[in-house]
Amino acid sequence: MGDFNPNAKGLMGWIDNRFPLTKMWNEHLAQYYAPKNFNFWYFFGSLALLVLVNQIVTGIWLTMHYKTDGALAFASVEYIMRDVDWGWLIRYMHSTGASAFFIVVYLHMFRGLMYGSYRQPRELIWIFGMIIYVALMAEAFMGYLLPWGQMSYWGAQVIISLFGAIPYVGDALSEWIRGDFVVSDATLNRFFAFHVIAVPIVLLGLVVAHIIALHEVGSNNPDGVEIKKNKDENGIPVDGIPFHPYYSVKDIVGVGVFLFFFAAIIFYAPEMGGWFLEHDNFVPADPLTTPPNIVPLWYFTPFYAILRAVPDKFLGVVAMGAAIVVLFLLPWLDRSPVKSIRYRGWIYKIALAIFVVSFFALGYIGTQHPTPTLTMLGRTFSVLYFAFFILMPWYTKMDKTKPVPDRVTFTKH
Ligand code: HEM
Repeated sequence: MGDFNPNAKGLMGWIDNRFPLTKMWNEHLAQYYAPKNFNFWYFFGSLALLVLVNQIVTGIWLTMHYKTDGALAFASVEYIMRDVDWGWLIRYMHSTGASAFFIVVYLHMFRGLMYGSYRQPRELIWIFGMIIYVALMAEAFMGYLLPWGQMSYWGAQVIISLFGAIPYVGDALSEWIRGDFVVSDATLNRFFAFHVIAVPIVLLGLVVAHIIALHEVGSNNPDGVEIKKNKDENGIPVDGIPFHPYYSVKDIVGVGVFLFFFAAIIFYAPEMGGWFLEHDNFVPADPLTTPPNIVPLWYFTPFYAILRAVPDKFLGVVAMGAAIVVLFLLPWLDRSPVKSIRYRGWIYKIALAIFVVSFFALGYIGTQHPTPTLTMLGRTFSVLYFAFFILMPWYTKMDKTKPVPDRVTFTKH
């Protein structure tokens, strides 16, 4: 608690005597020292924040005309698209924002893999990030039911029925989730409640925790050098620069480039050829007609492919869950003496490359109608996906690393 300063001047003085505004501004922005060697990969945290705000704002506006009722939901979305002034823009900003969120978050996570950002002392930043990722998947899944199209309906039907594979309690559990024997109005109402308020609150809280944890230990960087180990006589890291104005300005450049692509998609290709909005979802939900190929949106398909790679339904669900759980364990699986890929040996580089190829391949396979060849490929890439994690303690230890410099590598621009 700060002491009351009777000489404080102006509005800021008045506020600072009652609320630590200047203190917070300094601690988190103007005197928060971030490594000076951030590169392209450090844009995506602030972009994720931007997309989060976009989703919340456009989401609030969508609810103003959306109707949470199995008989009205589909038509209300069409009404927003055709009759509500600028409704189409708000809806496309939200639907494109959902895919943009996953693109940005996947790139953000990949950065973590490249530079070992999950390693000590940043394990909790990573754990909070992973919980955010799971919450984001729940948020997207429940949001997708709301337009009440064929894919909304049948996608939810398939995914909720997966819980039915759990021995003993499965059927009761999936009925409890749906609130009915099939996906119905009751399901739509509860998914709406979770999508518009429960999960967003959790997400916001988690993002705050993620950033508090980050600011407690400080950012990692492309060299994986701990800048706090090398401070000047004033206690300021010699390789650090104040976040504001240096990185606030850099992040605005990222925002500009991002908005260029975001707007291009919204205005010219909002469906993205069926990748961002599936064609079957322009058909109203029909509980009596199953679409021939029920596929989730692209950001779920790597995990969907792992699910389908296992012949037994329950074990498939377990494998799909395990594919996400292993990501939580990364900080403890990686035994390399260095953090950044810059100083790792060829084994890690190849392992990471195979992992990325597997993730993309699974993502593609998950969108396709299963054939014997695709199933075989799906199994192979699932094994490679898990091999990246399971063999990690071993190959990161035996990999030949290069010496890490004491200071970050940085050339003046
Ligand atoms: C709503 C989603 C998210 C938001 C808004 C968010 C926000 C941020 C921000 C602003 C930063 C600092 C800037 C930067 O390093 O890019 C950051 C760092 C970080 N985030 Fe996230 N994040 C999100 C999701 C995730 C996820 C899903 C993970 C991983 C599972 C993750 C892991 C990390 C890590 C490890 C760092 C530290 C990186 C480093 O210092 O090298 N984040 N995040």
